[in-house]
Amino acid sequence: MSNVNEIQSSLIETTEPVNRFIDNLLLGGKPPQLYEASRHIVIAGGKRLRPYLTIKSCQASGGNVKDAVPFAAALEILHNFTLIHDDVMDHDDLRRGKPTVHKKFGESMAILAGDLLFSKVYQAVLDFSPGHLSSDAIITALQKMTDAIILVCEGQALDISYPTAADVTEDDYIFMIGAKTSALFKACAEVGAIAARASGEVIDALGGFAWNAGLAFQITDDILGLTADELKLGKPVGSDLREGKKTIIMIHGLKNADLSQLTILKRAMSGQNASDEDIENAVTTLDEIGSITYAKNKAIRYTQEALESLKTLKETAAKEELIGLLKYFVNREY
Ligand code: IPE
Ligand code: IPE
Ligand code: MG
Ligand code: MG
Repeated sequence: MSNVNEIQSSLIETTEPVNRFIDNLLLGGKPPQLYEASRHIVIAGGKRLRPYLTIKSCQASGGNVKDAVPFAAALEILHNFTLIHDDVMDHDDLRRGKPTVHKKFGESMAILAGDLLFSKVYQAVLDFSPGHLSSDAIITALQKMTDAIILVCEGQALDISYPTAADVTEDDYIFMIGAKTSALFKACAEVGAIAARASGEVIDALGGFAWNAGLAFQITDDILGLTADELKLGKPVGSDLREGKKTIIMIHGLKNADLSQLTILKRAMSGQNASDEDIENAVTTLDEIGSITYAKNKAIRYTQEALESLKTLKETAAKEELIGLLKYFVNREY
């Protein structure tokens, strides 16, 4: 399970029941506009990393796939809700290779579509959790999910405050991405383990794995946001630069640039005034400074920490698949 094709087919196969579950929750609702706007992003694609993590964590804890599916669906729905609102905040027009929900349906409908998905998260868990799970286990799962959502909001608030903040450090960045991205991955892994009625130690080991994997994932996302092929990525490339986002690459670049390099970086951070050429020049400059390599190495370091967290877990096929997922987090092209 170490090559990209293998993990990609495993993702598709494993999350197929999750897609069907989500369809059943969202198909045919009224008013149609609201449900169409909510389904637009779900059916546009997406790698389904989070439900995969939930299902594989459940299996790695000795549980059955079917017990994890309602939770996995809830967590993918939750992720989609955050993406709809994220694209409004980030002023992005493209997601999963399609127009973003606010672009296609308007901002008001995008806010509502997000809110609807947010409610569907709870409906999925409350109405469809496996009968043999205790109420305590279901409440614990809901607690993990709720804690994650709170952290996502806090992290997203920091993310949008950093462009105008002075002296944002790498520690600030790691703290912010832990909240906006790792918290949800962590909940996905923990909830999968809870669905398998795993012990506290196993839940914590998988949670620690997912937290560090999430950091590696977001650092890679920030690199791809500069260097990827936009058609493949399905999201706008260079948008973080225009928005003045303080990614680890930019923080490193701003700290290590000489005066002429600094001028190039600052020019790219001027919103819609920055031309495509300004963005290209800034990416070349960041590469020259070594900021992209620096970020890649950081991502690898977090994958090593993630592996460390898995050490106590029994050797199973699902554990190997989780390791495959981790490698994919940093080796992917979109
Ligand atoms: C995008 O996540 C949001 C981030 C946390 C960077 P993914 O890259 O998993 O998005 P999809 O689900 O595959 O579209
Ligand atoms: C990802 O934010 C985190 C959430 C959506 C909560 P980003 O803004 O960094 O992710 P992309 O690049 O738009 O997917
Ligand atoms: Mg965004
Ligand atoms: Mg964002």
